[in-house]
Amino acid sequence: MLSKTALLSSLIAAGASAQQVGTLTTETHPKLPIQQCTAAGSCTTLNTAVTMDANWRWLHTTTGSNNCYNGNEWDTTLCPDGATCAANCALDGADYPGTYGVTVSGNAMTLKFVTNGAYSKNIGSRLYLMASDSTYQMFKLLNKEFTFDVDVSGLPCGLNGALYLVEMDEDGGLSRFPTNKAGAKYGTGYCDTQCPHDIKFINGEANVDGWTPSSNDANAGAGKYGSCCHEMDIWEANSISAAYTPHVCSVDGQTRCEGTDCGDGDERYSGVCDKDGCDFNSYRMGDTSFYGPGATVDTKSKFTVVTQFVTSDGTDTGSLSEIRRIYVQGGTVIQNSVSKIAGITESNSITDDFCNEQKTTFGDTNSFEKLGGLAAMGGAIGRGMVLALSVWDDHAVNMLWLDSTYPTDADATKPGIARGTCATTSGVPTDIEASQGNSQVIYSNIKIGALNSTFSS
Ligand SMILES: *[C@@H]1O[C@H](CO)[C@@H](O)[C@H](O)[C@H]1NC(C)=O
Repeated sequence: MLSKTALLSSLIAAGASAQQVGTLTTETHPKLPIQQCTAAGSCTTLNTAVTMDANWRWLHTTTGSNNCYNGNEWDTTLCPDGATCAANCALDGADYPGTYGVTVSGNAMTLKFVTNGAYSKNIGSRLYLMASDSTYQMFKLLNKEFTFDVDVSGLPCGLNGALYLVEMDEDGGLSRFPTNKAGAKYGTGYCDTQCPHDIKFINGEANVDGWTPSSNDANAGAGKYGSCCHEMDIWEANSISAAYTPHVCSVDGQTRCEGTDCGDGDERYSGVCDKDGCDFNSYRMGDTSFYGPGATVDTKSKFTVVTQFVTSDGTDTGSLSEIRRIYVQGGTVIQNSVSKIAGITESNSITDDFCNEQKTTFGDTNSFEKLGGLAAMGGAIGRGMVLALSVWDDHAVNMLWLDSTYPTDADATKPGIARGTCATTSGVPTDIEASQGNSQVIYSNIKIGALNSTFSS
C-alpha cells in the first residue's frame, strides 16, 4: 500500500494500546475458523479466532480507568517516556461488535467502517488471525495458495478492505520485549512496509518521544519510531478497484526504525522497506472492464479470490518465482486479467520480470528489485507471516493510488497513472466518515492448501 494510517477509536473513555493488561472488559477473541486443504482436495478445519490490533484498544492506567492516551495525544504525566508509559498503562479487552463494529458468524467476519459506540466513534479496524489465545496463526504459503471470499459491494471510493500478510512475531513481541506484557492476545507487534509511526507501542515501549498529533486525524499521531517488516498485500480493494502487491524490506522480522531507515518523506527510497511494492491492479494494467460493478469480476456480489505462491522448483522450500491470481464467481473460474500496456509483456501474474518491465514503463523507482524482489518476499513467506484483515480510509492521499488518477496532476492517459474510475476529489476522510459511515466489508470462507486444492468451478 502506498500509505497507511491506522485509525483509532476516538473515545471519551478511550485511546488505545499499552503494554500491561487491563481487565475492565474481558478479552474474548471472536472465533473465525479457516480450512486447510490437501492436494487431494480434502479439507480440515483450523479453530482460529481474531484479535483487535492494540492501537484501537482503550489504554488506561493499570490501577484504574484514567486514559493514558486520549484523542491523538498521550497523557504526559502517565507517559513522560516510553518505558514509564509501558509500566503505567494497560491495554484493555475489546467489545468487538459494540465498540468496533466487528461481527463474526460462522466463517464470515463483517467489518463496519464507522461505529458509534456508547463512549466512542470508531473508525475502521485491523484484526489478526490467532492460532491460540496467545499466538498468531503463522502462514507459510510457499508452493501453496490462499483463498477467501469477499463482499466489497459496501465499499465505495476512498475505502480499502485489506487482507494481507505481515512478518510480525508469533507472540506479538512478548518474548523478545519483556516490557510487553500484553502480546498477541491484545494485538501487539504490528509492522508493515510503510514502517508506520502511528503505532503507540513498539518493542515494548510507548512511542511517545517526538509524538506529533495528526493535523487531520482526530485519533492518530506519529512518534519518533516506525515499525517495519515485509508485507504481502493479498488484497487491497473496494468496489471500484483492486490490487495485490508484494513489498519487501532489507530487514527480516519486525524491526523498529528511526531516521532515514524509516524512509519518510523525501527519503522514501532510502529506507529499509519498499513502500511502493510491485502491484497488479487490473485497471492500472490496462484492462478497465475487468473489475467493478457489473464487470467481469462483478463487485455487486460476493466472489472468491485465489492467490498462488509458486516456487521455481515446485517445492515448499523453493524460491518464490510467481504470484498468481484467480477469481471464482457464480461457479465460474475467472483467470486474472492480462496486462495490456505497451512495453510490458502480456501476462496475468506477478514475476520479477513483470515488476521490472512495469517499473520501467511507468517510470517508477524500482525499490522492489533493489530490496530483493520476489526472492525476498518468498523468504518472509517461508519463515511465516501473520494475517491482517482491515478496513481503512486514507488520511494521507485519500486512497487515490488505488482507485483514481494518481498523482492527481499527472496525465491520466500516461501508462500507470489511471488506477480506477473514482474522482480525484473522492476519498476525503472527513467526507466519507460522515456520508459513508455504513460502509462495510465481509471476509469469509478462508482456505489455505496445496495449489489448486481450495477452489473449483
Ligand atoms: C493448477 O491448475 C493450473 C490450471 O489448470 C495448471 O496449469 C497448474 O499446473 C496446476 N498446478 C498444480 C500444482 O497442479
